[in-house]
Parts: sequence; C-alpha cells; structure tokens
Amino acid sequence: MKIVVIGAGHIGLVTALSLAHHSHEVLCVDVDQKKINSLSEARTDIYEPQLAEFLKCKVIQNKIRFSCDYSVAIHFSNIVFVAVGTPSDEHGCCDLSFLESALYQLQQKSVSKKTIIIKSTVPPGTIRKFQSVYPQFDFVSSPEFLREGQALQDALNPERVIAGSYSKSAVELVRSIYLPFLKNESDFIEMDPTSSELTKYAANSFLAARISLINEFSKLCEKLGANIESVAAGLAKDSRIGPLFLKAGIGYGGSCFPKDIDALLNFASLQNEEMKIMRAVKSVNDQQVEAFTQKIIGAFRNSGKKSLAIWGGAFKPDTNDIREAPALKIIDQLLCHDFDLKFYDPFANSNVGLHFQEHSKAAKLQMMTDKMSTIEDSHALIVLTEWSDFIETDLKDVKSKLIDFKIFDGRNIFSEQRHQHIDLDYTGVGL
Ligand code: UGA
Repeated sequence: MKIVVIGAGHIGLVTALSLAHHSHEVLCVDVDQKKINSLSEARTDIYEPQLAEFLKCKVIQNKIRFSCDYSVAIHFSNIVFVAVGTPSDEHGCCDLSFLESALYQLQQKSVSKKTIIIKSTVPPGTIRKFQSVYPQFDFVSSPEFLREGQALQDALNPERVIAGSYSKSAVELVRSIYLPFLKNESDFIEMDPTSSELTKYAANSFLAARISLINEFSKLCEKLGANIESVAAGLAKDSRIGPLFLKAGIGYGGSCFPKDIDALLNFASLQNEEMKIMRAVKSVNDQQVEAFTQKIIGAFRNSGKKSLAIWGGAFKPDTNDIREAPALKIIDQLLCHDFDLKFYDPFANSNVGLHFQEHSKAAKLQMMTDKMSTIEDSHALIVLTEWSDFIETDLKDVKSKLIDFKIFDGRNIFSEQRHQHIDLDYTGVGL
C-alpha cells in the first residue's frame, strides 16, 4: 500500500521506516525543511541503535521518501498516519496545535475520504472531537508504545496494537496493515477511541508509578541499611509483579513520562478528578533528583573548590535524547554550587553542550570526548546514565585516575563491583 506519515520526529520516522520495512511505499511529511533535506539524504540527528543503517537502506530501496509538501501527500495516499509532537503548553496541558495544523492542511487540500491514524499521544476525547469537526475523515486512535533506544525493534515487533475508531472499515484497514507485525491476531485490540487514548496515558502512568514506588522504597532502604536491588530481585520473581521497571535511581525523564503525567493531571482536574496516586508519582520523581543532588553537595560542603566528573546526560542509554533528563537538573544545580565539571556522554555530548551554552556558569562545564579523560584529576565521579560503556568499566581504572576514590552512582551501575574495593567512598541509590 501507499501510506503517508506526517511527522518525522522519533515516532514518525520510526513508524514510517517500520511500514516501509513491511513493503509499503511511504511518504514521510514534516514542516521542517532542514530535517526533510537531511532525511532525503538518509541522514538523521536522532541516535538510536540501527536507525541510521535502516534509514539508508530504505532510502536506497526507494521505499521511503520525504517531503514538506502537503499537496504531494494528499495525492500520494488516502491512508495517513499522524505522529506529530504534542508537547506540554505553559500550563502543563497537552498542546494539540501541531496536530490541528496538520489536519487543517489535510482537509484544505483533500478531495477524497481519508483514514487518519493518530499515533501522537492526545488527551482522551480528542478523536471524538476531531471526528465531528472533520466528518470527511475516518479517525483511528492507535497509540504508540515504542521505547527510545529500542524504537525500531519495538515498532517492528509490537506487543500489541490498539485501534480505537467509530468506523469499522477504518479499523479493518489498520488491522490489515498491522497483522503482519504481530505474533498473534489477538494482539490487535479494537476499542472505542476514547478508551484507546486513555490506554496510552494509563500505560505510561503504570510504568512511571512502578519507578516512583521502587524509588520510594529506596529511601527507606537507605534509612534501614537495606539494599533496594535485593528488594527488587525479591519482587521480580513474583509473576504478578515481574522484573521490569524496578530500577531505583535518579528518577524517570524523557519526552514522554513527565509530559504525559502533567497532561493527565491537568486533564483529570478538568474532569474534577484528583488522581492522587499520579500526583504522588510526580512528586516522588522530583524529590529523587533533589535528594541525589543534595548527597553530592552535602559531601563537599565547606571543602573548597572541587572538580567533578560526570558520566551521562541522556535520559536513558542508547539515545542522544536529553529532554527532561534528570542529569540536566543535577548538572544545573552543581554548576550553581560552583563545582568545576568535566562531562562525557557517548552520544549526547553536543545536545548537553547546546543546552548549557547560555548558562551563567557555562564556562565551568568542560565537554570531554571519552570516559577516562573525564575522570582524570577529578575529586569524584558522578554517574547519571547507565550506558553499557560505563557499566563495563573496571573500578580499578577509575581509582587510578580520580583524586579521591569517591563515586556518586545515580544508576547503581557499580553496586556489585563496589564490594571489591574497601577504600571506595561509594554512594548509590537505596544501597
Ligand atoms: C516510554 C514508554 O516506556 C513507552 O512504552 C512509550 O511508548 C513512550 O514512553 C512514549 O510515551 O512515547 P521512553 O520514554 O522511551 O518510553 O523510555 P522508558 O524506557 O520508558 O524510560 C523512561 C524513563 O524511566 C527513563 O528516564 C529511565 O531511565 C527511567 N526508568 C526506567 C527508571 O528510572 N527505572 C526503571 O526501572 C525503568
């Protein structure tokens, strides 16, 4: 089939490539001319395992094309996936303006009926509203559940596909597109659009809640001298709980959980629903960053000028995405406390450099090109992202370079290795 994908960001691009992989002919549209020019030459700023190779392959095979022109898109196909950003507005509500603008452009130029599949995360009730404003389109809510860092694998092998629509024929079209992606036919779940939209918020809420819950227990572990990793291991074997999303640390970040939870809280309060648990989830997450930063600041109080080595800025490994990364808040506070910082992230260096270029203390942040030179002559190592390159480090080598053998490990990557070094001054989370 010929398919249009509107939005060439992380989700749009990966969705477009996954459709191209399943032999569809895809046109990916975005308003950003610079981005479209790069993508047409098979170049992308997004770091994601295998993404660059995959993009190159699909461009060479002519399975995917890129354009800024909606008129081209309209004539290309009547099947349109929409994966534009829905960021938070200044009140924390979901800003639908990119989505509204895309729909406006489509309806201005369309002559035939189209099926519009919304991948963007939107508040419950959005499709109900759109369906009455644009009766010439059949809308389907099909939220995306892919994770950054594993985006291609998740998009090519989704655990489930949800389709929420008022149109039976539109659901059948989406089913025919997605069945080849799925292990079982029953992994395709049909429902009404508002339930589908709500499922997306519920999924991210459940995952974020697990993180805040394990982080809350991590604080208790610190008070009691217990070990959160042992607690997590004990929980993971309970099949009702399972092993995933039980990693204590400096809290969740990224372009999804923080934004979606804010949007959900705002949306719910408009419905006079308080969502007390989700409010607490957010507050525990905020405190997690603060508590970790205070451990560092507290350890060096009244000890004169210190130089710290920072490993990691991305909100998680295998991505160069720093949106809402806990690392940014920690670095900001350390700069404000006048530490000298040497920083290294395998893929997010330039994004972090750009983020802090206007900071009043930017001169105190030195960007480094490898992990070992970063720690040279520093008083402590601070780990903020659990890249495998960092996990594989031998602490003996770290010791030989640091002035003080002091580590603040926001991701507990050295929780096991620390036992081999009695002279190590180690601070993890919940250990
Ligand atoms: C998340 C969801 O996992 C996806 O299913 C969803 O499609 C996506 O949001 C979205 O809404 O678009 P993502 O933000 O890519 O995906 O990353 P996650 O792997 O969920 O991690 C989010 C944050 O939680 C990261 O900062 C990570 O470090 C943190 N985390 C994760 C923990 O602190 N502990 C854990 O045990 C797991």
